[in-house]
Amino acid sequence: MGWPVMHSRSPMIHNHLLAKHGLAGAYVPLAIKPDQLAGALRGLAPLGFAGCNITIPHKQQALAIVGEVDQVARRIGAISCVIVRPDGSLAGTNNDCFGFIENLLQRQPGWRADAGPAVVIGAGGGARAVVYALAERGARAIRLVNRTRARAETLAREFGSPVTAIPWDDRDRALEGAALLVNATSQGMVGQPPLELPLDTLPGGAIVADIVYTPLDTPLLAAARRRGNPTVDGLGMLLHQVRPAWKAWFGIDPEITADLRAQVEATL
Ligand SMILES: NC(=O)c1ccc[n+]([C@@H]2O[C@H](COP(=O)([O-])OP(=O)(O)OC[C@H]3O[C@@H](n4cnc5c(N)ncnc54)[C@H](OP(=O)(O)O)[C@@H]3O)[C@@H](O)[C@H]2O)c1
Repeated sequence: MGWPVMHSRSPMIHNHLLAKHGLAGAYVPLAIKPDQLAGALRGLAPLGFAGCNITIPHKQQALAIVGEVDQVARRIGAISCVIVRPDGSLAGTNNDCFGFIENLLQRQPGWRADAGPAVVIGAGGGARAVVYALAERGARAIRLVNRTRARAETLAREFGSPVTAIPWDDRDRALEGAALLVNATSQGMVGQPPLELPLDTLPGGAIVADIVYTPLDTPLLAAARRRGNPTVDGLGMLLHQVRPAWKAWFGIDPEITADLRAQVEATL
């Protein structure tokens, strides 16, 4: 469920897996207007759905609608996945953080959360999941930069140490000595301008990750690659989220194959 939702690559991924595992069913994009979200979620059980994923702009609102929210989602303050229980009640969780870490480790197996300061740009739903994931993995310093400063400060207060809010105008200085840079804003996405962030002060060995996956090669990743930084694109974050979702919906841990990734990549 999202608004808009037709750009999502999730139907392609889940329908590929449904066919592969011989499950009778379909994963359909549901364009739900924000003021219709509660009714749409209540309709899941009577319509026979096992659950759904939640995307922009519903992640925070959905948390307040489902009956049960696990600890991860509550801490992040947003849900990305809904599970319909056998009695028709709804449970919410957040798989963005799992997807982010799995992707990072797959693409940069040498990455360690305590290797040095991480800079996260953004303070929306995606950024909250990234900050949670990094803190859980043991990051000792997370420099959080957001255009709207108050939002970064709220998040820093909620998560406490190791998160520090840095003003937007100081973002180039925030890159000094960093081991990881993550773009968790919508900037660089198709239809949006590139993220305004000169990389001059970023160490050459720092990993640069983008959670945007349309396009796969964002202007930020291209700029990082040009100066020799290792990069991680956002598609794997979407792909790896499928595993905990399927475990909850069907009791299956599906393999995310190179072939599936290539199929999605071909559409980006
Ligand atoms: N790969 C994945 O699986 C995955 C998962 C989740 C999200 N995403 C992607 O991540 C992106 C963000 O999603 P979200 O759910 O976090 O969205 P969101 O909650 O709407 O947050 C958007 C963020 O972008 C910032 N922003 C927007 N316009 C900006 C501008 N002109 N200059 C600087 N910052 C700007 C916002 O800053 P303000 O607070 O100042 O408005 C905010 O921090 C989207 O492209 C989404 O598709 C990918």
